Amino acid sequence: MAEPLRASPPVEEKQPYPVEEIERLIRSRRSVRLYEKTPVPDDVLRHLVDLARWAPSGMNAQPWKFVIVRNRGLLDEIRAVTLKGMDLTLNVFTRPELKWKLLKGLFRLLQPGLFKTMDPRIFQGMRSLTENKTTDTYHKAPALILVLGDTRSQTYMEDCSAATQNLALAAHAVGLGTCWIGFAKFLNYSRKMKKKLHVPKGWTIVSVSTVGYPWEGTLYDQPSDRKELEIEWLD
Ligand SMILES: Cc1cc2nc3c(=O)[nH]c(=O)nc-3n(C[C@H](O)[C@H](O)[C@H](O)COP(=O)(O)O)c2cc1C
Repeated sequence: MAEPLRASPPVEEKQPYPVEEIERLIRSRRSVRLYEKTPVPDDVLRHLVDLARWAPSGMNAQPWKFVIVRNRGLLDEIRAVTLKGMDLTLNVFTRPELKWKLLKGLFRLLQPGLFKTMDPRIFQGMRSLTENKTTDTYHKAPALILVLGDTRSQTYMEDCSAATQNLALAAHAVGLGTCWIGFAKFLNYSRKMKKKLHVPKGWTIVSVSTVGYPWEGTLYDQPSDRKELEIEWLD
């Protein structure tokens, strides 16, 4: 495996890339939720992260760091903390008892924006993950890649999200599957967990992606629909 590059390679031709292949790569990437147990080798994971960091970033600040988790015990702890976060959120948002209502009031005060953006499907997802003990928020993947963002940057969310998509496409290109796990955001509420995940002070976990070889029964051509393409042409 080649050494990670420090500078971008020269653009040799005007259009050196086979557009049909790139289109096929982008369109055929699917969120993978069933994995083989086969571990992903170090150099392959390293290569994915190397490609992730070629994403654009505001002022080229590159306000990201990457954490790769493969340790079974740590994966189990991540799972447990995430479930706890979902359980608490479900109680706060859906239970009528006074204690939860008071906590909801506190949430409202501290995170007013959250109430405007809560999609009911999020609760359905959380309910099925917390009630059904056989499901796994992290889809039993053999590895996770965390993209950490430096909150001192004004664009860390956008930058880290772009890096996460690079990661997903690079993984797909080499036959690996990924799934962006939004519920992993709960990890940010546990100081202990952040410490275990080597999240420095002033940094936050922007994304967590599962990574692994898709279970051999996974169909890459299973449909994932898209809304009607809407464009406003302002010529
Ligand atoms: C920010 C974000 C959060 C997501 N969170 C989850 C999640 O917690 N669990 C999951 O299985 N998929 C999650 N997904 C994957 C989406 O469900 C998936 O991208 C969407 O259904 C489209 O399917 P596709 O990726 O196969 O095209 C998330 C995707 C994004 C971008």
